[in-house]
Amino acid sequence: MFPSINPTNTAAWQQLTDLYNSQKNNTIKSLFDANEKRFQQYSIKDGNILFDFSKNNIDEKILSSLLALANECGLKDAISAMFEALKINKTENRAVLHTALRNFSGKPVVLDGEDVMPAIKAVQQQMKQFCDDVHSGNWKGFTNKKIKYIVNIGIGGSDLGPVMVTEALKPYWVEGIQPYFVSNVDGTHIAETLKKVTVDETIFLIASKTFTTQETMTNAQTARTWFIQNGGNEAAIAKHFVALSTNQKDVAAFGIDPKNMFVFWDWVGGRYSLWSAIGLSIAATIGYNNFEDLLKGAHATDVHFATTPFEKNIPVLMALIGIWYRNFYGAATEAILPYDQYLHRFAAYFQQGNMESNGKYVDRNGEKVSYQTGPVIWGEPGTNGQHAFYQLIHQGSQIIPADFIAAAKSHNPIGDHQMKLMSNFFAQTEALMNGSQHENVYRVFEGNRPSNSFLIERITPFTLGQLIAYYEHKIFVQGVIWNIFSFDQWGVELGKKLAINIQEELVTNEVVTSHDSSTNGLINQYNQWK
Ligand code: F6P
Repeated sequence: MFPSINPTNTAAWQQLTDLYNSQKNNTIKSLFDANEKRFQQYSIKDGNILFDFSKNNIDEKILSSLLALANECGLKDAISAMFEALKINKTENRAVLHTALRNFSGKPVVLDGEDVMPAIKAVQQQMKQFCDDVHSGNWKGFTNKKIKYIVNIGIGGSDLGPVMVTEALKPYWVEGIQPYFVSNVDGTHIAETLKKVTVDETIFLIASKTFTTQETMTNAQTARTWFIQNGGNEAAIAKHFVALSTNQKDVAAFGIDPKNMFVFWDWVGGRYSLWSAIGLSIAATIGYNNFEDLLKGAHATDVHFATTPFEKNIPVLMALIGIWYRNFYGAATEAILPYDQYLHRFAAYFQQGNMESNGKYVDRNGEKVSYQTGPVIWGEPGTNGQHAFYQLIHQGSQIIPADFIAAAKSHNPIGDHQMKLMSNFFAQTEALMNGSQHENVYRVFEGNRPSNSFLIERITPFTLGQLIAYYEHKIFVQGVIWNIFSFDQWGVELGKKLAINIQEELVTNEVVTSHDSSTNGLINQYNQWK
C-alpha cells in the first residue's frame, strides 16, 4: 500500500532539520528582496482560486526537502490507495471514499469487487427528487401545507459541514425554505429551534451515521414528542421525519419509513460526509443543482490533487507548509481567517476535520510518536478577529501560521464595504510579514509571521467545493507523513462511555462516592442544586 515509516527517520527530515537550524533567522521579507519573481513562483491559480503561499519562510531548498519528505513517506502511493478504495482506515477496516461521492469522471470505483457508483447515484437521485418535491410543494405536510422549515438534527460531522456550507452559500437559498440546525444535547438548542417552526410545515432530518449518537437521538425523540403533542400523529410522521444514516435497522426502529431514509456507507467518515446523504439539508436549502455544483467543485480538486505534480499541488503544498511550521518551528496552532462573513463557520468546520483526524499520538505501527502531529485549529472571520485576537498573531510570543481567505466579488456589493474589507485582507498579511520598526519598543512589529492567502473570484457552490476539498486533502497528506491513522476517532469514545455511566448517578438521591473526590464533589453539588 504505502510505507508506515517514522518521518523523522527520513533523509528529508534530517535535511529539513539542518535547513531550519541554518536558516531560522532568515526573514520572509528577505526572500522577496532576493527574488522578484517570488510571487509568480510561489502562487498557483486553480480555476477561479488563487493560492498564494509566497509569504512563508520557505525557499527552493526547503521546498524541495519538504517535497522529498512527501516522496519518502510514500505520498503518491497513499493517494492512489485512497482513490482506489484500499482499506486505508485500518483501525476500522474501512476504505475512505468521500471522493467517490463527488466522482463525475464516469469511471467506476470498485470496493470489494463491486462498483460503488450506482448506489451513490441512486441516493443522489433520491435526494434530488426529495428537493424537487419539497420546493415544488409536491411534498405536503399533514395539513396539506407546503414545507417551509428544514430542521437538521445531528452533531459533529452530521452537523458542522451542513451548517458551514448552508451559511457559506446563503445567497443561493431557495426562496421559502428556512433551515435550522440542532446539535447540542442541551435542551435549549432544540427548545429555541422549535419556537421558530410550525408543526405542519417542518421536516426534521435526523442526520446520524450510526443512528446511536446520544445527542442526536435525544433531540430526535424530543422533536418526535413535540410533533405528536402539537397536532401531529404517528401516521403523519412519514411526512415530517426523514433519516440520513448508514444504520437501516435503528432508523426503522425509530419509526421512520424506510422510503424516507437516505443511506450512505461506512466508508464515508463523519467529518467527510457533507457530500453524502448528510448533505440533504444543504441540497434542500440551496437546491439540488447547486448542491451538485458543490460536489463538482470538490471533484475538480480531487482531480487536481490526484494528478498535479506535488510542487504545484495545492493540498500537498498546504500540508507541507503546515508540517514545516508544526514540526520545525514548533507552531502549536494554525488559524483560518476568512474575510467573508458567510464563511463564519469555516474554521469551526475544519477544527473538527483537522483535529479529529490528526489529533493522534500513536502511529500506524502502534508506536507512540516522537514528534508533533495535528495542531490546534481555530479562527474567526476578519475583520472581527483583527479587533479581538490579532494582537497575539502580530506581537505574541509564538508563531501562528494563518490562512487568509477572501472573495474578490461580494454577494452584497454595498457602498465601499468590499473595498474596505479587502484592504484589510491585503494589509494584514503584509503587516504580518514585514512588521514595522518604532523607537518605542511596545510599538515594534517584528514581522516575519507567515501566512497563506486564498483569493477566490466569488464564493459559489463550485469554488466552495474546491476550497473544502483542498483542506480535506491537506489533512490526508499530513496524516500520511505523520504516519497516523487520520480516519478513525477513538479519542472521543472514553468521555462518551463515562457520561453514560454517570447518568445513573444523576437520577438518584444517594451520595456519590464512586469517582475521584473532584468528580464526586461536583456531582454531589449538582444533585443538591438540580
Ligand atoms: O463523537 C464523534 C463523532 O463520532 C464524529 O466523528 C461524528 O461526526 C459525530 O460523532 C456524529 O456521529 P453520527 O453521525 O454517527 O451521529
